[in-house]
Amino acid sequence: MWPVYVVQVFTGAKSFKANPVIGSPLLNRLGLHVARVIVAAMVARFRYLCLSPLAEAGHRKNYLRDGFIVLRDYLPEAEFHALKSEVNALQGEVRQCVQGDTLTQRILLTDNVLKAMPTCQRMLWSKKLLGLFKFTSAKNSNPIFYVQNIKSNVVDDAADPQRTLHSDTFHATMKAWLFLEEVSDRNGPFTYVPGSHRLTLKRLKWEYQNSIQGSVLPNSYGARGSLRVNESDLATLGLPSPKAFNVPANTLVIANTNGFHRRGEAKEVSSRMEIWAYSRTNPFNPFPGFGLRWYTQLSHLAIQKYLARQDRIAEAKGMKASWHRVGENALHEMPVSSRSEKSPRKLPEVA
Ligand SMILES: [Fe+2]
Repeated sequence: MWPVYVVQVFTGAKSFKANPVIGSPLLNRLGLHVARVIVAAMVARFRYLCLSPLAEAGHRKNYLRDGFIVLRDYLPEAEFHALKSEVNALQGEVRQCVQGDTLTQRILLTDNVLKAMPTCQRMLWSKKLLGLFKFTSAKNSNPIFYVQNIKSNVVDDAADPQRTLHSDTFHATMKAWLFLEEVSDRNGPFTYVPGSHRLTLKRLKWEYQNSIQGSVLPNSYGARGSLRVNESDLATLGLPSPKAFNVPANTLVIANTNGFHRRGEAKEVSSRMEIWAYSRTNPFNPFPGFGLRWYTQLSHLAIQKYLARQDRIAEAKGMKASWHRVGENALHEMPVSSRSEKSPRKLPEVA
């Protein structure tokens, strides 16, 4: 495996635990992790520059300064209403991941699924929005889109690891949410530390210290390359307090999740339905890409093949894959929770 471990140093591979080269305390003492962070940041800067004609100056400025953009009333009212109707009627392969007390359920928006969702397709494929996504992800290809529902407080006695402040990975990466319902402390707002995506000397020092512990970091997600940060450390890092995005429905949030973020606390047994986008790339490849249509279709196929393979591996062990299939109606139902319900109930349509 050693040749593979070495090659992975030049990819987005991030786990200190899974890769003894990336996780080597000696190499990280010598600056391997920090060098990867710096080179990835320089490459991302170059790619932002290449793709800057695709996004408005104001959006570019806000994103590079804060690490996020918030666009309220994103769709005209009639279109937003039509989009919600399409989501309410959506059936398809639902995949679910259980993390602590939270369920994340998704339907992948392939070209085929989008055929039945003309408003959604028009919005996601609009030149303006795709341009913004391409700039913010520093990658000249479409993100992967899902309809996603996050159901909080539905599994007993476990803490959701996504509620801890963290950086997804060591390089710039884009995630976006078009919220289909109001987001508040009731259903857990996305929470972000403004400016925490910027590579400062203090952040570099923090990355360095974490990388030396690497595979033995106390938090298992941290050891796998998604570093956790204490809120008390933010001041040391020269960062402000986290900002919770309590926003009305029809708000689009785009964030660089290299910055520190978390899923905010949800006070109730609740759900949060959204269109979710995700884009990540090899952080060491300076070429933004050619924006070829078949690349996205190939990515969808690769995701489906990967998930099917994970299903088979888990099945052979008598287990469920992390992202396992659930009923086609699952997105629109609240699961049984001993905290709340005795039987599944249909969720009200996204109003
Ligand atoms: Fe995250």
